[in-house]
Amino acid sequence: MPGTPNPPAIETRGLRRAFDSVDAVKNLTLTLRRGEFFGLVGPDGAGKSTAIRMLCGILKPTAGEGRILGLDLYHDAEAIKSRIGYLSQSFTLYGDLTISENIEFFADLHGVENYQRRRDELLAFTRLDPFPGRLAQALSGGMKKKLALACALIHTPELLFLDEPSTGVDPVSRGEFRTILKGLLDQGVTIVMTTPYLDEAERCDRVGMMHQGKLIRLDTPVAIKAELQGRMVAASGAPLGDIYKILKQRWPATALVRYGDRLHFFAGRGAEELAEATAWLNQKGVSGVRFTPIEPSLEDVFVALMSEPKVGAAL
Ligand SMILES: Nc1ncnc2c1ncn2[C@@H]1O[C@H](COP(=O)(O)OP(=O)(O)OP(=O)(O)O)[C@@H](O)[C@H]1O
Ligand SMILES: [Mg+2]
Repeated sequence: MPGTPNPPAIETRGLRRAFDSVDAVKNLTLTLRRGEFFGLVGPDGAGKSTAIRMLCGILKPTAGEGRILGLDLYHDAEAIKSRIGYLSQSFTLYGDLTISENIEFFADLHGVENYQRRRDELLAFTRLDPFPGRLAQALSGGMKKKLALACALIHTPELLFLDEPSTGVDPVSRGEFRTILKGLLDQGVTIVMTTPYLDEAERCDRVGMMHQGKLIRLDTPVAIKAELQGRMVAASGAPLGDIYKILKQRWPATALVRYGDRLHFFAGRGAEELAEATAWLNQKGVSGVRFTPIEPSLEDVFVALMSEPKVGAAL
């Protein structure tokens, strides 16, 4: 709202972005409080990057309204850019510049004066301080991400957008990256992050699930998972390969997920559907299969949602 002393970090209503005939983002309505850690997940092409680019003021919406830190998305795009940080999915560093020079370049770009102290802080924060003189092109994937993050933070943004910061990063560097984000959250920075790793999204305060341009879920990980309570089961009692093969003849592969030595089955219609599955297995000569309710993970919910022809209909 205009004039509100401490407006939400993000407030949008009906934001839409079309590319020719494709509606990349449809009707995005979202309010994020200051200091929130928000995760945006969804399959390839769901519209996550497009949503983020609109919220950064980089891409003009086709319709709808939005305020970022109280600033209008249409009229104050430049002011928005000066107060947010953005790590794009395909960020570019200058390979022939050193770590230090890359940060300095972004300091210049944002008109940050006397940036030296902030640069040294960021180098220490991202643990890149032992080698400020190393060329960016000589860095590992994880180090490049950390440097790109340091560059995105040079102007001390209040709101940070991270588009798939951990894709292609090894598990150790992902852990380090998480620690860095935790430090930023402790400083009160609001973070919006997209990630293909659902276990990573579980750490967010709230998660938005996108599919074909629509936000189909928006809640805390606990609340999202609660939707599946009692309907996510693990199968046992017969060779899992046989159970999988037979159930797959009638249920879509996405309702069935193999995790190593476990087979998860999403019974959207609960007990009735489990009885049908048991009868079907019996009919095909496999008996004694037990279905035990399990604690669903965010990944289970995601898979279950995507398994529905009309997404979300069964939930
Ligand atoms: N500049 C563009 N011109 C035309 N179509 C585009 C453009 N940018 C995105 N799209 C289309 O919009 C849709 C959403 O793309 P977007 O990149 O936002 O998805 P995403 O969820 O970020 O996917 P990914 O997980 O692969 O990064 C896709 O159909 C994509 O092809
Ligand atoms: Mg993307």
